[in-house]
Amino acid sequence: MNKRKNIALDVINVSKSFGSTTILKSISFEAVRGETVVLLGKSGTGKSVILQCIVGLLTPDSGDIFILGQNIPQLDYDALQEIRKKIGFLFQSGALYDSMSVRDNLEFPLRRHEILTEKEIEDRVKQCLDDVGLLSSIDKMPSELSGGMRKRVGLARTIILKPEVILYDEPTTGLDPATSREISRLIIKMQEKLKVSSLIVTHDMECVKMTANKVLVLKDGTICASGAYAEISESQDEFVKSFFE
Ligand SMILES: Nc1ncnc2c1ncn2[C@@H]1O[C@H](COP(=O)(O)OP(=O)(O)OP(=O)(O)O)[C@@H](O)[C@H]1O
Ligand SMILES: [Mg+2]
Repeated sequence: MNKRKNIALDVINVSKSFGSTTILKSISFEAVRGETVVLLGKSGTGKSVILQCIVGLLTPDSGDIFILGQNIPQLDYDALQEIRKKIGFLFQSGALYDSMSVRDNLEFPLRRHEILTEKEIEDRVKQCLDDVGLLSSIDKMPSELSGGMRKRVGLARTIILKPEVILYDEPTTGLDPATSREISRLIIKMQEKLKVSSLIVTHDMECVKMTANKVLVLKDGTICASGAYAEISESQDEFVKSFFE
């Protein structure tokens, strides 16, 4: 019981197929509160599918996914909306609304999910933008921002509802090394400041090294290796080694 209490994300025997193609074969892993877990895997192996199952955008064929004690695949619509407020999701694409200013993009989830005064909304938006170093861009449109800045705004929007779990889908993909490092540092900052538990899907090995408390390797629908960065990076398994070359 005590051990469970300390687990923010508990994925148990999750399987998922599309038609006759099996993507996930009874996957299990957990993230302890405050821990950052990184998921590695080749393109098209089901990493985004795992994240989508965790937020309830996809339903697994079998298995349980407990977040903060609630079993996601079994929740009804209202309960799912409620728990989603506690889960931040930084999408692979960044997913800002291009027709809205940065400020409006950040206000959107707040107005939808929380009852706050105008002053509280303004303060929260400014605080989150300040956290990602973009306060001066508050009245810009997404089209006026660089790729790295858009990711940072995406991150600010991800943290605006003060999530307890954050899922990152390839947060540094498409960014130059210096900007990628900046995003990785922000991920660490969020973890330290908000004490969140994070699951990061990435191909960026510097990001893995900087952020991971635990690394999982996905292969053929199963987790073929898991452990601390130091342990996984020293693995003699050819498949695991291929990520570090
Ligand atoms: N909604 C869906 N319907 C049918 N097939 C899907 C669906 N979502 C994903 N798939 C399939 O599941 C497999 C895994 O997709 P997924 O997006 O999880 O890969 P990934 O590991 O995230 O790859 P990448 O690193 O390129 O982002 C792919 O073959 C994909 O075509
Ligand atoms: Mg993906």
